Amino acid sequence: MSTADRSALRGRVVVVVGASQGIGAEVARAAAAAGAKLVLVARGAERLQAFAATLPANPADVFALPADIADPTAGRMILERTVARFGGLDVLINNAALHHRGPVESVDPEALAAMVDVNLRAVVDLTTRALPHLRARGGGVVVQVASLAGCVPTPGSATYSATKFGVRAFSRALDEELRGSGIRIKVVSPGPVDTGFILDDLDRVTDLTLSQPMSTAAQVADAVIDAILNDRFENKMPGTSGALTTLGYVAPGLARLLRPLLERKGRAAKARLKAAQGGAGPRSD
Ligand SMILES: NC(=O)c1ccc[n+]([C@@H]2O[C@H](COP(=O)([O-])OP(=O)(O)OC[C@H]3O[C@@H](n4cnc5c(N)ncnc54)[C@H](OP(=O)(O)O)[C@@H]3O)[C@@H](O)[C@H]2O)c1
Repeated sequence: MSTADRSALRGRVVVVVGASQGIGAEVARAAAAAGAKLVLVARGAERLQAFAATLPANPADVFALPADIADPTAGRMILERTVARFGGLDVLINNAALHHRGPVESVDPEALAAMVDVNLRAVVDLTTRALPHLRARGGGVVVQVASLAGCVPTPGSATYSATKFGVRAFSRALDEELRGSGIRIKVVSPGPVDTGFILDDLDRVTDLTLSQPMSTAAQVADAVIDAILNDRFENKMPGTSGALTTLGYVAPGLARLLRPLLERKGRAAKARLKAAQGGAGPRSD
């Protein structure tokens, strides 16, 4: 996408939830470069402030707002503080998520519930609370960062997969409900991405996940910015992996047959990543 196309973001108020590192940080960087007014949300205040100071933006246009979306009052607070600071809301990007990996019985039930809370309940809450603010501006966009694990049931990540399926279903249904209102709900569903989310937990990442090509956080951020500006409901990326998840979803028997082949490929990719980390160590940002 050209910079000219992004000029529509100039002066728009964009909230990025999960903004201090990884995909959210790249989204914030791209939106700042396009002249948006930014509200940056994450739990860790120090890292968030340090990141905000690196953005190519007028400091008055960047509002670092530490918050934990696991707190049921956070959604209301984030939107109230956004409107108080910038006078309205144009774009909400729900990007923060948790992933406690492993077979369901191996994971603490409280950790599974926390995933449902942050990845799904908080996304529904923030999206719903954003709607009156978007209506007040005559329209706007919510972009959900989901996952290809939300497009095909993923053994080893069953609860995470369920939360991302939930986000996609909620978003498609709500986008239909809002037809003609000027408000759009969009979804970006990436395969593996080169962030700490996956690289710092490599041993527990499923081989199936790593069988797919890894995107960079900047590539996913580009897809998020495209989603704000373009008409398409969902971007499953990379496209070949997206097509494979569709096949796996409609033909589970075929998916079971293909899985050993894909897992072998994923194991080889994991070994390469671990060897690279052996040299440089996992990312700590
Ligand atoms: N990386 C992948 O392979 C991959 C693949 C598919 C989909 N995704 C999705 O992409 C999104 C972003 O992932 P990422 O890879 O960029 O992750 P990341 O590098 O771990 O960054 C996550 C960001 O969210 C913030 N955050 C986490 N929990 C939060 C909470 N409870 N409240 C507020 N902020 C919170 C983190 O800051 P604090 O820790 O300071 O709060 C951080 O800024 C997630 O929705 C993930 O499911 C990732």
